[in-house]
Amino acid sequence: MKTVICGTGSAIPEYRMDNCELSQLVDTNDEWIRERTGIQARHIAKKETTVSLAAGAAKAALENSGISSEEVDLIIVSTISSEVILPCTACEVQRMIGASNAVCFDLNAACSGFVLAYNTAAAGITAGIYKTALVIGSECLSKLTNWKDRGTCILFGDGAGAVVLKGEEGEGRIPFACSDGESGNVLTCKTGLGQISEGEEYMQMDGQEVFKFAVRKVPEAIREVLSRNNIGPEKVDWYILHQANKRIVEAVARHLKEPIEKFPVNMQEYGNTSSASIPVLLDDMNRTGVLKRGQTVVIAGFGAGLTWCASMLEW
Ligand code: ACO
Repeated sequence: MKTVICGTGSAIPEYRMDNCELSQLVDTNDEWIRERTGIQARHIAKKETTVSLAAGAAKAALENSGISSEEVDLIIVSTISSEVILPCTACEVQRMIGASNAVCFDLNAACSGFVLAYNTAAAGITAGIYKTALVIGSECLSKLTNWKDRGTCILFGDGAGAVVLKGEEGEGRIPFACSDGESGNVLTCKTGLGQISEGEEYMQMDGQEVFKFAVRKVPEAIREVLSRNNIGPEKVDWYILHQANKRIVEAVARHLKEPIEKFPVNMQEYGNTSSASIPVLLDDMNRTGVLKRGQTVVIAGFGAGLTWCASMLEW
């Protein structure tokens, strides 16, 4: 049994903040941000929430797939920015879309979260536990951003993306995922129940260390997933990477010696939306007809934890 994506959706906050507006908040400028990151704008939730964005993306994905909400038997939401601890965002989505037959839970693996949620749902479908799954990445990172820290606030944005997964006859794909808890201190957000110092409630990051980690580990993860599935890079049509920084995407393409045209980006419009970035890009490519049935797609995430992962799917 293999899993196929039979619908995609996304929900993006209405408010768009471009680099010029950001440069009124911190000492930065449009040219620096574009050159160092590829980001030109990001969308910020003013009236939207992590739950409303997740539900919006889920509804759009179901509509795109032609599948009813009652048919969904699993909802996983990947998020690091839910408004409340309980109930989980996935249960809220269930309520809002009327998916009364679904098992629902959240998953926290930062920017690797969507790929890990996809792997979890795919494994459940392959094992025969579930038939139809909604996998959602939804984030309001603006709430965890220190708007006085130019090293981080230029990077992040809000949004949600979702895919509908179903089982189909055929051979399943083997994913790859890895974590390194010893290096967790390079990217943190300590808001929660413990005692913290001022500033630790926001995302704090050693940008250069995260950059080096991503450039080293993402190509390794992709090579590993290709090897596990016995597929050469020439057979891959698209590498859809977590959208953190254009220079990271370019460096991964160089390491893999693959043409940059196989690495689509949309961080110029949305910034880094953590676990939403991959499904939002999948939805953009699906709705514009860029993704064609039968194409081979590799998705790869990396982020806090540290965690990194890659999966392969047939469109
Ligand atoms: N505007 C203008 N100048 C700036 C800014 C800014 N926003 N930020 C830093 N600078 C300055 C620095 O002060 C420094 O000046 P100096 O040379 O006079 O000291 C210079 O620009 C270079 O700074 P660096 O920190 O070396 O810049 P770098 O090229 O490393 O880019 C960046 C920083 C964009 C953060 C980069 O390191 C990066 O993208 N890292 C990866 C981040 C990432 O992907 N994180 C998310 C992971 S996913 C998740 O799980 C949430």
